[in-house]
Amino acid sequence: MKIIGIPGSLRRESVNRRLLLAAAHELPPGVTLEVWDGLGTVPPFNEDDEAGPVHPAVAELRSVIGSANAVLIATPEYNGSLPGQLKNALDWASRPRGSAVLQHKRVATVSASPTPYGAAWAQETLRKVLSIGGADVTGGEFAVPQAFRQFDQDGRLADPQLHHRLAELVAELVDAAMEVAA
Ligand code: FNR
Repeated sequence: MKIIGIPGSLRRESVNRRLLLAAAHELPPGVTLEVWDGLGTVPPFNEDDEAGPVHPAVAELRSVIGSANAVLIATPEYNGSLPGQLKNALDWASRPRGSAVLQHKRVATVSASPTPYGAAWAQETLRKVLSIGGADVTGGEFAVPQAFRQFDQDGRLADPQLHHRLAELVAELVDAAMEVAA
């Protein structure tokens, strides 16, 4: 079973990317998590371009989501919402309506920021975008506050409660994906 992890940030030292790697520590045997860093290559969504062959980056985005059993998205918060590049990619993944790769895909969400709120607003909006885009949003919300000081040397979440909740969320996503595979 393969989970694709999508960091909503393009930043090299992104705490959201680190959160995906922390989640990878919590996987049961037989499940892998691959981080997809292609978000910055996806062109702006344009309905005029839907009919013909799509840009290679859009094809890649659709292929990585389509071939994964489940998706885990880690979003930063920009001005109270999810970053434009993430929203843009989800718009591409939600089309064509009816046969989109996002349709019925099991997706869980996490978020992180240096503030006490952990990008919770962005994550709330992300979950709305995913639901309206056709995904099956699974698990609850999980926001990591003060994210710059939450990771230990192995890349795991140091706080026991946060660590436990992340493990729980990963288990919920794997269970949801297993239901589809069964
Ligand atoms: C931010 N940041 C931010 N943080 C937050 O919690 N709420 C917000 O509304 C915003 N707004 C915002 C706008 C813009 C344009 C930037 C560049 C940043 C700070 C943000 O949480 C911080 O840069 C994180 O480190 C971004 O996540 P990554 O890139 O580390 O994953």
